[in-house]
Amino acid sequence: RLLIIDFGSQVTQLIARRLRELNVYCEIHPYQNVSDDFLATFAPKAIILSGGPDSVTREGSPRPPARTFELGVPVLGICYGQQVMMEMLGGKVESGHGTAEFGRAYVTPKEPLDLMQGWFTGAGTGAGKDAGREQVWMSHGDHVAQIAPGFEVYGTSPGAPFAITADAARHFYAVQFHPEVHHTPKGASLFANFVHIAGFSGDWTMGAYRDEAIKAIREQVGDKQVICGLSGGVDSSVAAVLIHEAIGDQLTCVFVDHGLLRLNEADEVVKMFRDNYNIPLIHADESELFLGELEGVSDPETKRKIIGRLFIDVFQKYANEIEGAEFLAQGTLYPDVIESVSFSGGPSVTIKSHHNVGGLPEKMGLKLVEPLRELFKDEVRALGRELGLPASFIGRHPFPGPGLAIRCPGEITREKLEILRKADAVYIDQIRKHGLYDEIWQAFAAILPMRTVGVMGDGRTYDFALGLRAVTSVDGMTADYYPFTHEFLGETSTRIINEVPGINRVFYDCTSKPPGTIELE
Ligand code: XMP
Repeated sequence: RLLIIDFGSQVTQLIARRLRELNVYCEIHPYQNVSDDFLATFAPKAIILSGGPDSVTREGSPRPPARTFELGVPVLGICYGQQVMMEMLGGKVESGHGTAEFGRAYVTPKEPLDLMQGWFTGAGTGAGKDAGREQVWMSHGDHVAQIAPGFEVYGTSPGAPFAITADAARHFYAVQFHPEVHHTPKGASLFANFVHIAGFSGDWTMGAYRDEAIKAIREQVGDKQVICGLSGGVDSSVAAVLIHEAIGDQLTCVFVDHGLLRLNEADEVVKMFRDNYNIPLIHADESELFLGELEGVSDPETKRKIIGRLFIDVFQKYANEIEGAEFLAQGTLYPDVIESVSFSGGPSVTIKSHHNVGGLPEKMGLKLVEPLRELFKDEVRALGRELGLPASFIGRHPFPGPGLAIRCPGEITREKLEILRKADAVYIDQIRKHGLYDEIWQAFAAILPMRTVGVMGDGRTYDFALGLRAVTSVDGMTADYYPFTHEFLGETSTRIINEVPGINRVFYDCTSKPPGTIELE
């Protein structure tokens, strides 16, 4: 196995992700926990030193144990990891004016190096595409001023004369840039070369991840009870099934039905968990409560706050009935972890109050079980497949916590919700029939807060207008509207108006994000 020593970079987890993509097992450990004893027990086959925010030149800044370089295994230092390596092995690092470099840069090779195999051949990547030079991503304040004895320079960039350095005989590699991020297009091949040099066979799988996660859950929970809030979405469902595999009936799921779900959704979720998995499930049908409190409310933030508050109240009420619960399970993913670390307390503006159970654990005195904390969305899907969840379920588009409330701009009424459910079902059916569902990141209908005049048969209609939305995206942070053909839009509009009483006009939303958001509220 491979050890990643973490010096606090925002993107350390991306290193782990790149290695998982290569089917190599790795663990991330913060530098404080890595001692000589730890290294002896862990017995890594290779080590990666991550980037980090500190300066090597500062007294008391983080270091790995000297033993790291005495184990006879390949070591790769990235950014701060490079500098720490140079410093500890006898080189020199400097900070100060003019040494910082952030963003895109281009490296050119000096000598061939096994780590860089596949780089610098033919046209480069990225803007410019000059033969032989490669785009990389830099983000550093300090720089190496003198390399350590035994090291050579294998690549340079205008701002980093020591962009790629190595002691090839000992398999020590130190790069100034970040190969783990997307903006270093050939980064994946650098990791592939590194693990090849270290002798990994690349046979580790999601199945193995599942077994390790199960072991970890058992160790953490012991014989205590766990509650899990199920939303019907992919993340909480995968978390629930995984935890159930680990501890069986020590897990109870609470499914809060706020009356803002899609057509048949509540029944499907309850059926899947009770019938297929035999997981103890409390179906908290509280739609009357939610819809009652939302009556007459049209401001988007007020709606979100009401739903968030009621959700916590309701969840707590049902959770209190579960004797001896000490843990709360959540389907938190790694992107949520980075966001909450880097942006909490920051100067960013609240665009929307996201609905989650963030404050719950402290309020209820519960400890958290978050078995998906290290994974990205597509990896959660892979784990879900591994656990045997139906493919149609795993591939579902994301659905927001506040549900249809935010797809019903303005005041919510039961009549509007009913029309919206039917119209959304027809729209999604159209998308599936045309084989477009998996190409689209998220698609849904919204019922617009207006009535318009139409003519059907010989009669006048005065009905609601429907907005259709479909976007492509990687992570929901930015999005493009999906370019349906006119034929598709025409056919869908006709079907909806014919099949759904109450709608007499259909619009397609061709706004990207930004400036729009994905949901309408
Ligand atoms: P926006 O509308 O902010 O949405 O562009 C980005 C993604 O987040 C989903 N979304 C939510 N998910 N609770 C959630 O769990 C929420 O309150 C919430 N609001 C938006 C939205 O569906 C899209 O996928």
